Amino acid sequence: MTRIADEPPKERADVGRGADGHYGRFGGRFVPEALTGALEELETAFLDAASDPEFSARLRGLAEEYGGRPTRLTHADRLTRRGGGARIYLKREDLAHTGSHKIRNVLGQGLLAERMGKRRIIAETGAGQHGVATATIAAKLGLECVVYMGAEDCRRQHLNVVRMRLMGAEVVPVETGTGTLKDAINETFRDWVANVDSTHYLIGSVVGPHPFPLVVREFVRVIGEEARSQTLAREGRLPDAVVACVGGGSNAMGLFAPFVEDAGVRLVGVEAGGDGLGTERHSATLSGGTEGILHGARSYVLQDAYGQVRPTHSISAGLDYPGVGPEHAWLRATGRAEYVTATDAEALEGFAILAEEEGIIPALEPAHAVVPVLRLAGELGPDGLVVLNLSGRGDKDVDEVSRLLGMTADAPRADTTDRAAGEGVA
Ligand SMILES: Cc1ncc(COP(=O)(O)O)c(C=O)c1O
Repeated sequence: MTRIADEPPKERADVGRGADGHYGRFGGRFVPEALTGALEELETAFLDAASDPEFSARLRGLAEEYGGRPTRLTHADRLTRRGGGARIYLKREDLAHTGSHKIRNVLGQGLLAERMGKRRIIAETGAGQHGVATATIAAKLGLECVVYMGAEDCRRQHLNVVRMRLMGAEVVPVETGTGTLKDAINETFRDWVANVDSTHYLIGSVVGPHPFPLVVREFVRVIGEEARSQTLAREGRLPDAVVACVGGGSNAMGLFAPFVEDAGVRLVGVEAGGDGLGTERHSATLSGGTEGILHGARSYVLQDAYGQVRPTHSISAGLDYPGVGPEHAWLRATGRAEYVTATDAEALEGFAILAEEEGIIPALEPAHAVVPVLRLAGELGPDGLVVLNLSGRGDKDVDEVSRLLGMTADAPRADTTDRAAGEGVA
């Protein structure tokens, strides 16, 4: 399979599974006619770019010199000791410019927007990391930028709102629905329909109508490619399992993609279990949803019996989404990947564990994967090897976590689990 960067050009780029817009029965393009032309234009631009060595070189240069790639693979020795089983490595996307894996996708799509002659970029954001990454590339390429963000997410992630505004982006708080990611996406689609000739919708995950799930996967698969060669170099073999949190699914798909053909490598996605799968308050789409169409593609959706999208909940804004990328739906349906959940309380526990054991403050999104990774490490035993994708850093979440844990500048946190339960987080 060819990827955009690093490979020599071919006659026509072979971009692998999903090139026809389908992942088994999932994927597709369910959009108003007004958007069909723009999606076809994007598909053509992407396929042309995929076989253009100049594009590859520019993307690779920006990703390295500006974006901070490759990111490091860190052996988490104290976390490993705590798990008492398999060796645990962290793929350090938190060290990328702007603090998450999101930057690689926006570098790629920013260059595509330029290639299509579109000088205005719009984006949706949940945790704000994709919005920040988009504002960053817009500043770097001199493009106009508007970011839609749920009003509740603006509150939870105000640091990222400020970062976006500092870089010249217009941030539009979305008051409709639950004021979270789904509502922001709806609003961004509305803007796109109205301004499609001048505007590129820079979508932030492997979701949406074809070709977005394909385009985003190809831009973020560098995560798994690096993890693969770094693990081979360090350990002389592939990992037994690779683990990542799943919101829309981009950091997980980036990590999984280069391992899909390696049958011996378990692919494990962790969804946001919120208050628990047995409640209405979670965002675990693959674990608790049903097949349906959302935001232009067939996948799994949290919906009621009438197909109405259900309100979601997660302690982490980046996982608070009722849909998931169609390729994940396919990986689950075929049994190639496993999807588990972690509750809000487990995410807080994971957040504290990584901070205290490794001196790394993670974003709340990958913090969901810490407790499941410790469990998995125990299951695999001391000969095992696990890579956990640390998709982003936690600066944006420090205010919210300290509020939930009742910490102040002069008072330490209470016991994580007790305190979380007391605040209604369990
Ligand atoms: C650090 C981080 N990780 C993960 C996610 C979830 O998105 P995805 O599932 O597309 O990686 C987000 C989304 O905002 C994020 O900011």
